[in-house]
Amino acid sequence: MKAVVLVGGFGTRLRPLTLTTPKQMLPVIDRPMLEHVIAGLSRHGVDEVTLSLGYKEDVFHEAYPDSECAGVALKYAVEPEPLDTAGAVRFAAEAAGIDETFIVINGDVFTDLDVTEVWNRHHEVGAEGTIALTPVDDPSRYGVVPTDEDGRVLGFVEKPPRDEAPTNWINAGTYVLEPSVIRRIETGRKVSIERETFPSLVEAGGLWAAQSDAYWVDAGTPQTYMQIQMDLLDGVRGAAVNGVSSGASIADGAIVERSVVMDGASVAAGAIVRDAIISSGARVSADAVVEGSVVGPNAIVGERARITGMTMIGDGALVEAGTALDGAKLPESD
Ligand code: GDD
Ligand code: MG
Repeated sequence: MKAVVLVGGFGTRLRPLTLTTPKQMLPVIDRPMLEHVIAGLSRHGVDEVTLSLGYKEDVFHEAYPDSECAGVALKYAVEPEPLDTAGAVRFAAEAAGIDETFIVINGDVFTDLDVTEVWNRHHEVGAEGTIALTPVDDPSRYGVVPTDEDGRVLGFVEKPPRDEAPTNWINAGTYVLEPSVIRRIETGRKVSIERETFPSLVEAGGLWAAQSDAYWVDAGTPQTYMQIQMDLLDGVRGAAVNGVSSGASIADGAIVERSVVMDGASVAAGAIVRDAIISSGARVSADAVVEGSVVGPNAIVGERARITGMTMIGDGALVEAGTALDGAKLPESD
């Protein structure tokens, strides 16, 4: 089975972390997000992944120079400029020479979704495209997908105002597509799969859905980037994992609770790290507090500093001793 994994977005909601590292290469516990995602596809028989990308493509090439990731063969389709989600699918499918039924996923989705079931459903109904759906409390951040009782898609509304969403079943960012879908996508301009391709497939009557209530999180915001890691620590998706790397150094007299401390990071005596992510090579100095926040790679939190309320500290940034940051981004970024 072949899959196209979309990883070309700018990750703006995760700035400043994504100013240096593309979203899907941000670490999740001990590996880049992408490796977790591709391992999930591999469990369902995907043996070739084409990465559809542009933004910071060098970071991916450097991480996987042998064109292999989580045991799956990798191809790269580098867009000369961002083509948006459907443009990217067409570009990648053509670059990879895909001419059979294939899978497309958004590279920032963490899920235990049964891709095999979506694949089987697609073939059972003879769909041109099949979208996996997941239920959420607030559908307004997502693509909202009403269906009839057989699962035929009746409409596709990307990010509607909350009170206008026709259902709380949303696009889970996993599709099974026939190659004929590729030919529907115009070339030479940006095309959104959510705003153009899916609505036109609905018109043609060829779009189906497969509902699932398996674990599902879009990790594209600071809150959800934290959540996917806390869920692994808490054992929400199976056995709880230990977030403190054997290559991290935690001083005696430091308190580290429900947190990820990555390779080469250090936490000094008297410091408190709680519900937090300390990325590789970062330093939390003596008597500092980091709570509910992310400290990026090689950043330094000075002595007695207080980092709280989903503060995001970027790659190599310095928080001066004694500073308090609550809900901040350093360096400031929008
Ligand atoms: N190659 C390429 N080129 N990839 C892109 C481009 C592009 O121009 N634009 C976005 N992407 C990639 C992103 O890197 C990401 O992996 C994926 O496409 C989706 O983009 P997001 O920016 O994460 O979109 P979203 O989370 O707001 O919404 C999408 O995902 C939701 C589910 O997680 C939509 O597909 C929604 O309909 C869906 O519900
Ligand atoms: Mg997303």
